[in-house]
Amino acid sequence: MSETASIKLQGEIYELPVITGTENEKAIDISTLRDRTSHIVLDSGYKNTGSTKSAITFLDGEKGILRYRGYPIEQLAEKSTFLEVVYLLIYGELPKKDVLEKFNVQVQKNSLLHEDMKKFYDGFPHGAHPMGQLCSLVSSLTAFAPESLKMHASSEEVDSSIIKLIAKMPTIVSWIYKGSIGEPFIYPSKNLDYVANFMNMTFGQVTHDFEIDPVAVDALNKILILHADHEQNCSTSTVRTVGSSGSNLYASVSAAISALWGPLHGGANQEVIEMLETIKADGGGVEKWVNKAKDKDDPFRLMGFGHRVYRNFDPRAQIIKKACHDVLNKLGLDDEVLEIAIRLEEAALHDDYFVERKLYPNVDFYSGIISRALGFRTDLFTVIFALGRLPGWIAQWKEQRESKEPISRPRQIYTGYTTRDYIDVENR
Ligand code: ACO
Repeated sequence: MSETASIKLQGEIYELPVITGTENEKAIDISTLRDRTSHIVLDSGYKNTGSTKSAITFLDGEKGILRYRGYPIEQLAEKSTFLEVVYLLIYGELPKKDVLEKFNVQVQKNSLLHEDMKKFYDGFPHGAHPMGQLCSLVSSLTAFAPESLKMHASSEEVDSSIIKLIAKMPTIVSWIYKGSIGEPFIYPSKNLDYVANFMNMTFGQVTHDFEIDPVAVDALNKILILHADHEQNCSTSTVRTVGSSGSNLYASVSAAISALWGPLHGGANQEVIEMLETIKADGGGVEKWVNKAKDKDDPFRLMGFGHRVYRNFDPRAQIIKKACHDVLNKLGLDDEVLEIAIRLEEAALHDDYFVERKLYPNVDFYSGIISRALGFRTDLFTVIFALGRLPGWIAQWKEQRESKEPISRPRQIYTGYTTRDYIDVENR
């Protein structure tokens, strides 16, 4: 007999089905609750609410497990390339060699931006935040790919929108950087792979190619892989919510980029470096900052610490911490900020406040340090995160579309005025 849960309301007992996932996670299916009892469930921030069934990413926050399509993140970060992971997330399997080669060629062929897009870059004022530019530029792709607007697009048309977005994103991002420093745009090259191409377009110059360091390419592959998906986080829920209304891929991803921008989500990586720099300028002592973070009257939080689902450790943070050391060693760099980060982590991990609340470093705690070592300016960190998260957003958008999920529409408990009569403006 299938498992059920009972709920007792006003003396009556209602049986509700229990759903079990492939990793034995359990959920009570309350989809009929309102019709049967006129009650809804309330869960601000969806801390305990599953919004969907998904076969893309599994994570166990208690055990620190993260897997894409069943493959442990540790193995993917160590052995695969970002483009392989892109394919895995979107199409469900690791690509065979010839499939990967074909995919790579398709991506290379689609990596150019329409020349008219340059006008958008010209329109942004100097100092415009890269994330704001990225939202607009990704959304603007609809203008150049009208087939993406069809609500009932064929799977070939959907695939074409997907390839274009994957292919154009590195060009869009690197041109945001080039625009910000007033240098001419570098066009994509057919001789470089996805990540090396992105680095060349970002750091290369028209007059001479960027000398691509395999250590740097490898580190950036790792960063992108570690960020590639993370089940139903804020930006991913956004992509599914927007997509559920039938919105096209570019519009849905643009909304996800907005969600990612916030300092409590992807924007944390920029905030971490700014926090560490402030600590450095303040003399480098960490105790004062740990105390500030604990003080409920002080709005300061330790950025890069804490996570909605990881309660013991964030496996991505462990991989990236090690990569951080490796990259700084191999590139022969010395970063005092890394040393402050390690001391801050140590102090927090031994402090009762953080221990009791199960607050550990998240992926953003070290990703800023490594991104900076690779030459990225601080305000580009969240854009790099978006580049990494793109395949996850696409896979989740595609999955909700293919499983014909209903339009996303939560309910609420109303706490405002009860009915009152309109009062004429002179008499208020
Ligand atoms: N510094 C100090 N205290 C913290 C921190 C922190 N970084 N994070 C959580 N807390 C405290 C809260 O004040 C709260 O304390 P209380 O129970 O005494 O009121 C308790 O820990 C629980 O925190 P919540 O905010 O309720 O936890 P939630 O799951 O809602 O938030 C979040 C998770 C947003 C990540 C939070 O930990 C945070 O703000 N961290 C800093 C920002 C950050 O690093 N974000 C990146 C997340 S990872 C990512 O998006 C890739």
